Amino acid sequence: MTKQQTQNKAFIVFVLLAILHLQSTLSSVDHSTYHVNKIGHYSWELLFDIDNRENSGTVTQQFEMTYYANCSYYNLKNEIKTTSLAISTGLKIGALFKIVSIGMKGQIDSRVRSMYEHLSEIRSEMKIERTKTETYEIGPYSRLKIYRLVFNGPGIDYLTSTVSTTPHHMKDVQIHYALKLVPFLHYIDVVYTSDSVGRPSNIIREVNGKNPDINGGYRGSYVWLIPIWTTRLEDAASGIQIVIQDKENENYKDLAQGARGAYRYIKIHTNYYATDVITEIGLYRTSQENDDPCNGGRWQFKTEDINSKRGGDYLYLVWNKSSI
Ligand SMILES: *[C@@H]1O[C@H](CO)[C@@H](O)[C@H](O)[C@H]1NC(C)=O
Ligand SMILES: *[C@@H]1O[C@H](CO)[C@@H](O)[C@H](O)[C@H]1NC(C)=O
Repeated sequence: MTKQQTQNKAFIVFVLLAILHLQSTLSSVDHSTYHVNKIGHYSWELLFDIDNRENSGTVTQQFEMTYYANCSYYNLKNEIKTTSLAISTGLKIGALFKIVSIGMKGQIDSRVRSMYEHLSEIRSEMKIERTKTETYEIGPYSRLKIYRLVFNGPGIDYLTSTVSTTPHHMKDVQIHYALKLVPFLHYIDVVYTSDSVGRPSNIIREVNGKNPDINGGYRGSYVWLIPIWTTRLEDAASGIQIVIQDKENENYKDLAQGARGAYRYIKIHTNYYATDVITEIGLYRTSQENDDPCNGGRWQFKTEDINSKRGGDYLYLVWNKSSI
């Protein structure tokens, strides 16, 4: 109920300190920090009403009050994503970002402050629920109305333990978010060197620190994979495939260059309607056939064995996705 009201009334102010330059070069990743302000509201809700006006005696009433908060990093990000960020930066909805810091201005409950700080650290959901017992005395021929303070802000709905008999206006709170875009995979480039020392620094590494040279263990060039990242949704890769064939295709770079046997290529898939993007990638090398990198939830996806039918280690590209 209260959340709906907040959304309806939401008055969004944004300050854009960083101006986005969407560069046409695909390899460029936007490292700017975005600044977005949103509003949190306080309101009072009637907690109880004890009518003792017909009574000449004093009534003592004890009651248990539950105060609780729902805090959701997911909801918080959604509120930011569907409103101010998209509008202020001209970014497509679908930009993937993380909140790097949260600041607050105005008279704000220290609990709300720490909830926001905690949310930006844990980046997930949390619920807080506590009860306390209060005793009230209502004098003869009188009536007592007790109101409770409620906070509704992006990602946080909080029924506080602050009570009052005289609800007074509370100013809105300004909440400031600093955001950074999270890059996702666009493409994988293949680079050859004639020795191991010459390898580029930004290669895709073997996740357990083993040899990341694709041709490792075979003859031929040293072969390295370079991930090309983007923050533009339309450039996002949605899947990775290894194609092994006897016929050469000059549109692709051979992962087995100089080695005997089949041609091995990486094919990147794109899907315009994808709702998730590749945010983590690695190589997985193992000597065991049944050592599956996706076992035990270590990695969400893998290619077929890059070294299939050439003996030696099993080698996979592995990746994780994030929803946009
Ligand atoms: C928190 O969420 C629960 C359902 O998960 C709901 O019943 C409750 O009213 C929510 N509390 C607040 C303060 O919004
Ligand atoms: C990949 O995803 C799995 C399952 O969600 C997770 O356990 C693992 O930590 C992730 N790995 C990386 C490098 O993000």
